[in-house]
Amino acid sequence: MEPMVWQGNWEMGETRLDGQHRAMVRAINLLATRLQEGRPREGVNRSITFLMIYAELHFREEEAAMEACGYPELSVHVAQHRECSRRIEDMLAKWREGDSGLLTEVIAFFNYWLTEHLGNADRRFSEYLRRPA
Ligand SMILES: [Fe+2]
Ligand SMILES: [Fe+2]
Repeated sequence: MEPMVWQGNWEMGETRLDGQHRAMVRAINLLATRLQEGRPREGVNRSITFLMIYAELHFREEEAAMEACGYPELSVHVAQHRECSRRIEDMLAKWREGDSGLLTEVIAFFNYWLTEHLGNADRRFSEYLRRPA
């Protein structure tokens, strides 16, 4: 699996949110590396748990920032975040039941989802923040 590479147009100009986005990209890449190295299940489990908790924290913080400025696309955006969490939770539940192939799918999904989300939905929010008064 190709590692995620940070794209210049993902930069929102919001220090905290940008930092969290970068950390998520790093965490996905680290998880992919650990998986390729064939690390023990517990180590991989710790990485994926960290990524999930971190993503939730980021989603809540981003949604709070949207709410604070009356962002009109808030509910659509929140639905995208929830859908992402739900899909990953579903896949992880199956992985925990013993389907080891699913972790690759989780990483691939997160990689795909984040690339698409940063380039579109999150970018629209940063454009809204920077809209002319
Ligand atoms: Fe978002
Ligand atoms: Fe985001």
